[in-house]
Amino acid sequence: MSNIKEVIESIIRRPGVFIDETKLYPEYVPEVLPHREEQLKQLTKMFKHVIVSPGSSSGRVVLYGSLGTGKTATAISFGRVMCRIANERGIKLKYVHVNCASVKGALPVLREIKNQLGLSIPDRGLGLLEFVQALLKELDLNDLYAIVTLDEFDTVLTSFKAEDRYVLLRFYDVFHSEVLRLNFIYISRMKPHEIAKVLDEVSGGYVLRNTIVFNAYRARELYDILKYRAEEAFQPGVVGDEVFEYIANLIGVDTGGDGNARKALAILYAAGKLAEKEIEEGRATRVLVDHVRAVSVREDVSLVHVLDSLNYLNLHQLLLLKAIALELKSSGEDFVSIGTVESIYRKLCTEIGVEPRKHTQVYYYVSELANRGIIMVRKSLKGRRGRSSYVSFGAAPLDSLLNALNRAIALRRELGE
Ligand SMILES: Nc1ncnc2c1ncn2[C@@H]1O[C@H](COP(=O)(O)OP(=O)(O)OP(=O)(O)O)[C@@H](O)[C@H]1O
Ligand SMILES: [Mg+2]
Repeated sequence: MSNIKEVIESIIRRPGVFIDETKLYPEYVPEVLPHREEQLKQLTKMFKHVIVSPGSSSGRVVLYGSLGTGKTATAISFGRVMCRIANERGIKLKYVHVNCASVKGALPVLREIKNQLGLSIPDRGLGLLEFVQALLKELDLNDLYAIVTLDEFDTVLTSFKAEDRYVLLRFYDVFHSEVLRLNFIYISRMKPHEIAKVLDEVSGGYVLRNTIVFNAYRARELYDILKYRAEEAFQPGVVGDEVFEYIANLIGVDTGGDGNARKALAILYAAGKLAEKEIEEGRATRVLVDHVRAVSVREDVSLVHVLDSLNYLNLHQLLLLKAIALELKSSGEDFVSIGTVESIYRKLCTEIGVEPRKHTQVYYYVSELANRGIIMVRKSLKGRRGRSSYVSFGAAPLDSLLNALNRAIALRRELGE
């Protein structure tokens, strides 16, 4: 038997699989975005005035493309670099990113913009018009400019009142100002003709004048993305090119997949975690195509599906998912009863100091999550009495799922939901 010191030292000496696995987390925004140079160039052309003649006009552009095509990541890195360049030239520019799926109405969106800009305007008691007047005044007083991304804008298009939509789409036509300090990036998964359908002709034509398309990634592109992200996340030499190639072909839009980079990265991450475990047990030495095969057919399809959904679920739906995952984990069962899940959900709410939703609302959320295919519901279980319903995630790896949920919940809390 080896002594404790030897055990500890042997583990420390072992290089491990990851340098920094957080670099593969879905919300991490990398410094470089391979195959999005063209979109960055177009964005720069449309927002050039912010640097060259700030305040002369207000930029507006729609980014559209299917799931996981880099829209959010591109907007954030564009904003980041633009601010750096502006600040070097003495222009006070800030970048603001609002997830519209978790806010209802134009006023809450504008409040969120104000918060992220760090302006001091009281939230309570002001109507939309007064609030915007105060906002414009504060911007002038601080000589501040902003690039504002309204992410998950489909929520605004499909579920906001027409006048709220109008305010967010045609801000400076509704509120007049000498200096145009706010610029807008709208992110959508709808195609231009679908967007046009939900808007009236005037707003539709107006907003769709500038659009940038994010095509689903082809295998060749995913290969480069995976390789680059892996360089940041994994120890050198732990993942071979054949692994990137395999995942790229699985997901590439030209090779039968849906071209979703988030999915490709989640599979790479899950394969890395599986390999890590096997390496610790001495059963493998690096990440292999076999690991990818195992996670992509067996379990992680449901994980990826949940990851894809995290953006547009609200805080309470996320807490419910967490309650389900916790109960599945601690009970070791395939399905768990909704009653138990609900009581765990209440406990989670109390822990973070939010008011739990009422029973009927919880049931509504559960059926909504089931309709979206995120969870599975069964009315009764063999061998168990009673008429309770049971829920499950399928075979998703619960630890990765809980990590992702915790991060999403923390993010929502930061956004003040
Ligand atoms: N070109 C790229 N290079 C490196 N990583 C990328 C690239 N494109 C996307 N990613 C990564 O893939 C994941 C998904 O990208 P992102 O969140 O930007 O997609 P999206 O288009 O906003 O999707 P959704 O419509 O689902 O919100 C992120 O983790 C992102 O960092
Ligand atoms: Mg996005």
